[in-house]
Amino acid sequence: MTTLRTIAEVRAATADARRDGRSIGFVPTMGALHEGHLHLIRTARRAHDLVVISVFVNPTQFDDPADLAAYPRVEDTDAAAAQAAGADLLFAPSAAEMYPDGFATTIEVGGPSERLEGASRPGHFNGVATVVCKLLSIVGPDVAYFGQKDAQQLAVVRRMVTDLNLPYAIQAVPTVRDDDGLALSSRNARLAAADRERALALSRALRAAEASVAGGRASAEEVLAAARAEFAARGVEPDYVELVDPITFTPLPTVDGDALLAVAARVGDVRLIDNQPLTRNGSH
Ligand code: PAJ
Repeated sequence: MTTLRTIAEVRAATADARRDGRSIGFVPTMGALHEGHLHLIRTARRAHDLVVISVFVNPTQFDDPADLAAYPRVEDTDAAAAQAAGADLLFAPSAAEMYPDGFATTIEVGGPSERLEGASRPGHFNGVATVVCKLLSIVGPDVAYFGQKDAQQLAVVRRMVTDLNLPYAIQAVPTVRDDDGLALSSRNARLAAADRERALALSRALRAAEASVAGGRASAEEVLAAARAEFAARGVEPDYVELVDPITFTPLPTVDGDALLAVAARVGDVRLIDNQPLTRNGSH
């Protein structure tokens, strides 16, 4: 695996691959790689000739400077893990390479970015959309891989790619969880031991919602009550527990067709999110 620091080097490497008819898979990340990220890389590895991964802690998507400062930066271990999972190229640019003096463009996706995470973290999705658009344009992949874990981010990226006619396929990859159900996240390492247990409120809420749908209950009121009870049982106050359309992220009154239960909560001083796609017959 080769580590590249400049946009020009990445463009040259991917242009070579394209000229040779090799397909390109791309996995954008902010590093501190865990099994969730590695699952995306392995998925890309199975489908493409060239697998590119980016590691860039994107300053413009952090609404809280303390969160940006605390974000783990472990490039050496990331490089080793990405290589073992099958990545060919690691793009690890500096902030100045991505945002040189005079940079003045922001992509603002409306629709799915407006509620939930968008409301809790002003400007966050503008930062995500802008950096993802730049990364897609730099790498030029056939397919870019995103985790279902960040379902709203996925919806925002899909909306942007459709609206701007960007010629890249976006593929979702299922959420990877610890054995007890907690969705893997770079933030989990910051949970104190007691909070690690309380954090199970999120995944337990999703399982309770799934069970209530499987049991024939389909109104948002019933599904949300089942989910909220799991938060209450662990003394965790959720930021939100909502049943939404997975494409528009607007609230749904019932589970009828595709629906998504989205949850967020601060546990200790760590903010966690999780979600579960639901259909009338259970989950999928
Ligand atoms: P990051 O949080 O590093 O996540 C990179 C990718 O890994 C995202 O697509 C995310 O959804 C996926 N991912 C994270 N945890 C996962 C899990 N437990 N299971 C499956 N996939 C998981 O998301 C970002 O970075 C940034 O916003 C980025 C898109 C790179 C733009 O800066």
